[in-house]
Amino acid sequence: MSRQLLGGLALCAALAAPLTIKAFSARPPAPKPIDVSAAEAGKALFLHEFTANDPLCPNGDGLGPVFNAKSCVACHRQGGVGGSGPQDANVHAFIARIITCGNDGIVRANTQKSGLIHNAATRPDFRETEEILKATSPNLDIHVTERKTPALFGAKLIDEITDREILANERAQQLRRGMAVEGSDRVPLGRAVRLVGNRIGRFGWKGQTASLSDFVQAACANELGLGNPNQAQAQSFAKAGYTAPGFDLSLEQCDQMTAFIQSLPRPEELAPPDVSSADVERGRALFSKVGCAECHQPDVGRVTGIYSDLLLHDMGQTLSAGGSYNDPPIPDPDEFVSAPAKQSEWRTPPLWGVADAAPYMHDGRAATLEEAIRAHTGQGDPARTAFTQLALEEQKQLVLFLKSLRAPQPR
Ligand code: HEC
Ligand code: HEC
Repeated sequence: MSRQLLGGLALCAALAAPLTIKAFSARPPAPKPIDVSAAEAGKALFLHEFTANDPLCPNGDGLGPVFNAKSCVACHRQGGVGGSGPQDANVHAFIARIITCGNDGIVRANTQKSGLIHNAATRPDFRETEEILKATSPNLDIHVTERKTPALFGAKLIDEITDREILANERAQQLRRGMAVEGSDRVPLGRAVRLVGNRIGRFGWKGQTASLSDFVQAACANELGLGNPNQAQAQSFAKAGYTAPGFDLSLEQCDQMTAFIQSLPRPEELAPPDVSSADVERGRALFSKVGCAECHQPDVGRVTGIYSDLLLHDMGQTLSAGGSYNDPPIPDPDEFVSAPAKQSEWRTPPLWGVADAAPYMHDGRAATLEEAIRAHTGQGDPARTAFTQLALEEQKQLVLFLKSLRAPQPR
């Protein structure tokens, strides 16, 4: 090769280098390895039944003062440790609003506070009830709804989806709606939850939390009353003025629980016993055909088989409810954040593992998968209608496909 040509190649390589680096850095970072010993310690914490003044919480008051259950696994247990919860593990969320009727005749509701009515307390005077909430919130309209416990299998993969990949789903739906020739309002249009700090929400029924470790810290504080450096333990609205002596859990203990959840295997796809894989495959095609996959998108970024776009969709009045724990803080007016989720907006729940996660919907109102489909309203209405218009045999096949989306199988 001539010297000149070689020189030219070197120049090309030099020019191309920055481009290559740029293209490379746009790729999502490699998945982080799991810290096995932390996960082991985290499993013990996840299974541990906490008590008031628990020895694992030397600086704090242990469980409570208010709590929903004594351990994480008391709720997250269907299909294995870390799974979804049955209906009796539901959490009770409330919103308290001022309802006003303006001179224009329009009724307005302004949320004043939101949170949980905890199931239990360490002392009778801490015990929260709807009656006490009403009595201590004069002039406020109180609305209490339930939240079903979701499964945590595959949470590490959701945690590692990049913000960019979720925003790409939002743009794709805007594009699909824009290109619809007719009935564009029937094309689902979701929105990403932009939280303070320019992070994109992806955990929780309202997509209210950006990362797994944030959610774990919030769950410790709100489900079990275990305060930690980033999340104060839940206070009882029945009795003000109580403060814990210190943090119940260290950040290290919270990180261990996160590591345990990260170590949970992802859900699997496996035809149920006595079901032909041909029926499952026909069901999968119908799932796309009737429009389920518009929101329950099979893949996001590198994560295959998640069946969610991780976006909020307006599901209409019949699926309206507000309040949760770890609601995003009221944003600074200068921050670029999206409006908080409306009562009718829900994050598309990932359907992986759904076969082992009954009952369904945010409050567990649907006992079966068929009922869950029939409960879709708002942006889900066109797909629900298209489902009900399928031949009965096809409806069954679609449900068989959903029944192939299983919790990780014991080995
Ligand atoms: C009383 C039942 C209950 C207990 C106990 C409980 N959870 Fe949950 N968990 C829930 C509910 C309900 C949600 C959904 C909350 C929401 O989105 O508003 C949830 C959501 C989560 C999520 C987010 C999952 C997702 O995909 O959105 C994580 C992570 C989590 N819990 C971890 C924990 C950990 C860790 C503990 C123990 C410290 C715990 N949970 C204890 C009921 C429970
Ligand atoms: C517009 C977006 C959208 C479309 C289209 C859609 N879904 Fe959903 N789906 C959601 C949302 C959002 C929820 C949660 C709503 C709630 O809990 O109130 C949900 C919930 C579910 C659930 C319950 C999951 C759980 O963990 O409780 C199932 C099952 C389900 N959908 C299946 C389907 C099927 C099958 C179709 C097609 C016939 C479909 N969905 C179409 C957005 C959608």
